Amino acid sequence: MTAPIAELLTLAGTMPPGWEQAFATVRRADFVPDRIWPFRDGGYERAIDRDRDPDAWLAAVEDDIPLVTQWDDGAHTGDEPGELATSSSSAPTVVALELAVLDLADGMRVLEIGTGTGWTAGLLAARGANVTTIEVDPVLAARARDAIDRTRYAASITVITGDGALGHPPHAPYDRVHVTAGVRSIPAAWIDQAASGATVVMPWGTDYNPHDQVVHLTVTGNQAHGRFRGGLSFMKLRAQRAEYPNVHWPGTWKRTARASTPALTIADVAGATHRAAEFVIGLMVPDCMPDIRDDGRMYLYGWDDAGEPSLAEAVFPEDGIPVVHQTGTRDLWSEVEAAHAWWTAVGRPEAERFGLTVTVDGGTVEQRPWYEAPDRELPSRTGMPGDAFLRATTRRIGG
Ligand SMILES: C[S@@+](CC[C@H](N)C(=O)[O-])C[C@H]1O[C@@H](n2cnc3c(N)ncnc32)[C@H](O)[C@@H]1O
Repeated sequence: MTAPIAELLTLAGTMPPGWEQAFATVRRADFVPDRIWPFRDGGYERAIDRDRDPDAWLAAVEDDIPLVTQWDDGAHTGDEPGELATSSSSAPTVVALELAVLDLADGMRVLEIGTGTGWTAGLLAARGANVTTIEVDPVLAARARDAIDRTRYAASITVITGDGALGHPPHAPYDRVHVTAGVRSIPAAWIDQAASGATVVMPWGTDYNPHDQVVHLTVTGNQAHGRFRGGLSFMKLRAQRAEYPNVHWPGTWKRTARASTPALTIADVAGATHRAAEFVIGLMVPDCMPDIRDDGRMYLYGWDDAGEPSLAEAVFPEDGIPVVHQTGTRDLWSEVEAAHAWWTAVGRPEAERFGLTVTVDGGTVEQRPWYEAPDRELPSRTGMPGDAFLRATTRRIGG
């Protein structure tokens, strides 16, 4: 039988070297459930049921699109898409990108986070790995186990039901950690349970940005560092889904807020003009979440190291002068503009020019982003209100 996804990846030039056989033998159709919600042309479609429309089901499964397999942690069952997609079979090119970066060799021990349908665990096993894969949702874990048991790779795969953030110590140390859910805060267990020299690959990002970058980390002792290797979007680890801070700002907050004129637009700072800008702002302005409204307003919610909240509102009227109001211990809009100014001054580099160093100290994990090399830290906003940050940033660029 032909393997359309293997053909699709080969034709697109995105087949990772050495993975042809795995994609040819481990068919997505053998893992995806009978009911799926395809994501096509920028939107989620109604459910397709395999028994009602087998041709449409197969066409979707053999297409290069994500297929949602669960909404709202299983609470939603209707034909329409639910509120939040909570499990999916990722688009084949996205699966291939992560596997290409993983640099897997025969016989390696792999810890996988986010079993989902079990398809990627099957691919890893077909490529010769010994796989421990963890799925937080018991229904999905059981379904994946059934699908895996029907393959000839079942003996090489252990499906664990539980929180992947804890890893699985009994099978450690791992040569590779393959994470298939978006991460904002890397759990210590993934570094602790990795062998020295191991590779950890995950979709990683910041609170500022709903999208992720694949980060390729190499572990040495209690540290791991490496570069970003390409943009994609994943559903986040269950405990790391974005949540706006629950703060009530009185209707009068603007009366005492600091007012100024913005130098940038929403498109500049929220990715519409340049995706890398949004990613880099996220690296440089931690603990800050944007909220963009249809009516030309953008809010920034943030908090400082003591947990004190800050708020900024940038308003861009169709026929009026734009204005920013900022309140709290941080000038969030100024921080965002300062980060954008730094990114512009260094020549608007793509995300792949940046990297991450992760240091585990006991149970705490520090994530430190850098530019070009691990010793080139990004200017930090810590303790600096927006203007001071901008002055310091400019000095560093000059130096
Ligand atoms: C994009 S799907 C993974 C796709 C999967 N690799 C496949 O081939 O079908 C992400 C999965 O991560 C799971 N997940 C989210 N948080 C988790 C956690 N803390 N531990 C383990 N799994 C988690 C979700 O339930 C979901 O099934």
